[in-house]
Amino acid sequence: MANSKNYILAIESSCDDTSAAVLCNTKVLSNVVATQEIHKQYGGVVPELASRAHQQNIVPVVHQALAKANIDKKQLSAIAFTRGPGLMGSLLVGTSFAKSLALGLDIPLIEVNHMEAHILAHFIEDETRTPPPFPFLAMTISGGHTQIVKVSDHFTMEVLGETLDDAVGEAFDKSAKLMGLPYPGGPLVDKHARQGNALAYDFPKPKVDGLNFSFSGLKTSILYFLQRETKNNPDFVSQNIDDICASVQYTILEILMEKLKIAVEQTGITHVAIGGGVAANSGIRGRLKEAEETLGWTTYIPKFEYCTDNAAMIGIVGYLKFEAGDFTDQSVAAKARYAIGS
Ligand code: KG4
Ligand code: ZN
Repeated sequence: MANSKNYILAIESSCDDTSAAVLCNTKVLSNVVATQEIHKQYGGVVPELASRAHQQNIVPVVHQALAKANIDKKQLSAIAFTRGPGLMGSLLVGTSFAKSLALGLDIPLIEVNHMEAHILAHFIEDETRTPPPFPFLAMTISGGHTQIVKVSDHFTMEVLGETLDDAVGEAFDKSAKLMGLPYPGGPLVDKHARQGNALAYDFPKPKVDGLNFSFSGLKTSILYFLQRETKNNPDFVSQNIDDICASVQYTILEILMEKLKIAVEQTGITHVAIGGGVAANSGIRGRLKEAEETLGWTTYIPKFEYCTDNAAMIGIVGYLKFEAGDFTDQSVAAKARYAIGS
């Protein structure tokens, strides 16, 4: 099997992106993502609307992925899909579709844990990057997740810490909302932060034991801070948006880097891989570069399209499991809560 070409169709529908990808072994032939714009007007993902949009998008997105890859469905070796974690209604669409197609084509079905996929996205073939060597530390930071994981091999992972409340992307988005910025506010906070003074305002950092995170307190302190300041000056936010964003971002990055440094110290592992939508943040990228120079870390960030939710990362896990002969029975059900390694 080593030299053969295996074509994997992968499906991701855990949150608000309907995505399908075709991989030939570790190479991505297509990776189509239909981002659901409907949630913007509500300032966050509305689960019921997400499921309906997946229902509408899934067939055209899969067709497009096959067409772009120039692969006929009869050539497929297996179907990989996100079983969880995520929104139940959204997961059900991808799970049911994947099961039906695998049954119809009489090919293996492969379940994938979305959080493992964010990490294994580093193993997608990319001539501009080398994947991290085992063992490495992976920090997944996105709108739905904040986790530090010790990765000993493709399928041996241990969660060292995770958020106890909001995800880091939520912290960005909710702070942005308080400043009147549109959803998702993370990229806008980043943009303003680049022009602001990170030490202009001081926000408290939460005291959380071990390697876990908490971001809900930050949101509350920003709310009180803005209420206080706008009472004296109604234009406070618009006049100081760059400095506020820079200070908020600085606090968030301090929280992330502090835990990451503890994880490196505790494990002695200096290969640090980042993934998830927040990995696009220019500040975190700068901090990682700094850690390479001052702390001797080696850091890894996949291409942006493989950081945000996408089916290519589901496909790479699909391929690795296909090689290992790790297939899934048709009785499988979606799993909204699905811890790594469970
Ligand atoms: O991975 P992703 O596309 O979807 C989830 O699985 O959640 O991540 C989206 C999150 C949003 O919270 C968005 O605001 C945040 O990533 N984000 C950023 C930046 N780009 C995206 N946060 C801070 N700075 C950025 N440049
Ligand atoms: Zn995700």
